[in-house]
Amino acid sequence: MTKKPDRMAWLRGGDAHCGNPPNPPPGTPWRLVLLGAPGVGKGTQADLLCSRLGACHLSTGDILRAADCAGKDRSPALSAALASMKQGALVSDEIMLDLVGERGRCLRCCGGFVLDGFPRTVAQAESLARIMVREGVELDAVFSYELPLDEIVSRLEGRRVCPGCKAVYHLTMQPPQRAGICDACGKQLIQREDDKPETIRTRMRVYQESTQPLLEWYAQRGLLIQVPAFGTPEQIYVRTWTCGRSEPAGLTPAGGDGDPAVGGEAPALHARHP
Ligand code: AP5
Repeated sequence: MTKKPDRMAWLRGGDAHCGNPPNPPPGTPWRLVLLGAPGVGKGTQADLLCSRLGACHLSTGDILRAADCAGKDRSPALSAALASMKQGALVSDEIMLDLVGERGRCLRCCGGFVLDGFPRTVAQAESLARIMVREGVELDAVFSYELPLDEIVSRLEGRRVCPGCKAVYHLTMQPPQRAGICDACGKQLIQREDDKPETIRTRMRVYQESTQPLLEWYAQRGLLIQVPAFGTPEQIYVRTWTCGRSEPAGLTPAGGDGDPAVGGEAPALHARHP
């Protein structure tokens, strides 16, 4: 397992550099997109995938929350974006494309990436495709995690996050060792502002209207892999690769035979580009 990259270049943008850049295992870096309703577990899977693949977890929600914490010198456009986020609405495509477009170097990072929360609209997917051409890289696969709504809502209501290292917990399903305290950095855990019940309802509606059409968009390009998201995070992680091997994107183990060992080394896998 590799040390978690600090993602400073992604979170801050501009001239920021990562203090501990990724140190991926030998092989081609993986470039993945995770889709799924709010709270289905994308961030949890992104962390598992990144720690095993040596890739970087690129979450657009984390960029916005980092900007919110930074306060002060915020443009009016960014202030409006943060207000939208707190209400559970989508931030405008224009702002999101500025934020991701200026972080193109993160997309060509040697460790590869797991994009979580972007794209969220067909317009964003089209722009991502253009940015990737500009950066000279290709997507390997798009995983879409699927779960019934009531289970998703219970995941969101019990979620607690660390404001320092961004680790994610659940009150009952993934509790920290000491109640309310982050296992990794010792900070007091908090509840996200957009995890209130009324905001959750808005986020679900927005997902169905704006983000679900993306499934068809990626399916048409042979990249979509649908993954049932029930069970423990480790079970879903293993299922991610199992589903991948039988779907059109054609993820196959390179000289390996079975699922990546739970808690084991990063799997050596090949993607077949469509
Ligand atoms: P973002 O931060 O991307 O949030 P999201 O997509 O709504 O997803 P979440 O982070 O809420 O959930 P998740 O699927 O990552 O679940 P998690 O792993 O934490 O975006 C926030 C906002 O920013 C958006 O609403 C929007 O306003 C704005 N935004 C961001 N990107 C944008 C874009 N591209 N365009 C426009 N606007 C944008 O898990 C949830 C809980 O379940 C946790 O407590 C976890 O511990 C638990 N859990 C996870 N897996 C399991 C399991 N298998 N079993 C039991 N519990 C589990």
